[in-house]
Amino acid sequence: MATVRELLLAGVNRLRASGSESPRLDAELLLGHALGADRTVVIGHPEAPVGSSAADRFETDLRRREIGEPVAYIRGFKEFYGLAFATDRRALIPRPETERLVELAEDEVLRRLADGRPPGSPALRVLDVGTGAGTIAVALAVALRRRRVADQVALFATDESPEALELARENAVGHSVGDRVLFLEADLLPPVVTTPWDVVVANLPYVRSGAVDGLPIAASFEPRAALDGGPGGLEVIGRLLERLPHAVAPGGVALLEIGSDQGDAIGALAAARLPGWRCEVVPDLAGHPRVARLRPGRAGPGAFGAPGAPS
Ligand SMILES: C[S@@+](CC[C@H](N)C(=O)[O-])C[C@H]1O[C@@H](n2cnc3c(N)ncnc32)[C@H](O)[C@@H]1O
Repeated sequence: MATVRELLLAGVNRLRASGSESPRLDAELLLGHALGADRTVVIGHPEAPVGSSAADRFETDLRRREIGEPVAYIRGFKEFYGLAFATDRRALIPRPETERLVELAEDEVLRRLADGRPPGSPALRVLDVGTGAGTIAVALAVALRRRRVADQVALFATDESPEALELARENAVGHSVGDRVLFLEADLLPPVVTTPWDVVVANLPYVRSGAVDGLPIAASFEPRAALDGGPGGLEVIGRLLERLPHAVAPGGVALLEIGSDQGDAIGALAAARLPGWRCEVVPDLAGHPRVARLRPGRAGPGAFGAPGAPS
C-alpha cells in the first residue's frame, strides 16, 4: 500500500510536468479530497497508508487536473468569504479578489442601516448583477444574517445564464439563505425597474475578448460569457453604467469589480456615461485597482427627486 508521502510526491511531479502553477498545493488538495480529509491531514500524516479506493480516486482526479481542469471543479467546491461554494461548469469559480467587493458591499449596507432609519422604513434593497454561482449575493446574505440584520435587507440577484442561476439557487439553499435572495434571469437588470436599489454590486466579465484565450488553461473550463468583457474588456460593464441612473436610488451606490489595469479606463467610461456621478477606484489588498465605487451626484440623473435636490 502506498503512503501519503509517496502518492503526494508522484502527484506533485506529474502536475509540475503538466504545467500546473501550483503543483504541490493542487496535489495536497486532491489527495485530501480522495481521502475525504482536509489538506492539513495530508500534510500532517506523510507515513499513513492510503487504501486502494482512495488511491484510485486520486489517480482519476490527477488525470483531470493534468489536462487543466480547475481543482475547484474536481473537488466540487471553493472557499469564498469563509463559506464553501458548490462549483461546477455552470458558473465561474469564485475568485479571492472578489472578497474585497463583498466586504465593501457589506460596509455600505451596514452603514445605511446604522444611519438610524425611521421605524417602518422599507427593507434596504441590494442587487447583485451577474451573480454566477450566487457568490456575492449568498456571501452577503450569510454575513447579514450573522449580523442579525437580514430582515432589514431585500437581496436580489440576476444573471443571463439559467445554468448559473440554477447553481446560485443551490448555493443559497446550501447556506440556508434560499428564502433570502430573489434570483432573476435578466440581461443585467430586470427589464422594468419599478423601485431602484440602494446598493448595486456587480462582478461582470471584464477580460478583453482577445485575452481570454491567453488565460491559464483552467479558465477554458469556465463559461466564456463569465469572462469575456468584449473587445475592450469593459463593454458589459459599460452597458450597466448606462442603466445605473434608473437602477440606483438617490443616495445609493454601485460597486463594480474591475481588472487591476482598468482604473483609468473605468474613470473615463463613468465620466462619459454617467455625467454628474462620482467615481472612485478602490484598491485591493495588494494595492491594485479593484472596485469602482459610483455614486449619483446631487445634480446627477440618479439624484432626481432626492431630498434637497431641485425638483
Ligand atoms: C465574472 S462572472 C462573476 C460571477 C460571480 N458574480 C462571481 O463574482 O463569482 C460574470 C457573471 O456575469 C454573467 N453575465 C455576463 N453578462 C451578463 C449580462 N448581460 N446580464 C447578466 N449577467 C451577465 C455571467 O453569466 C457570469 O455569471
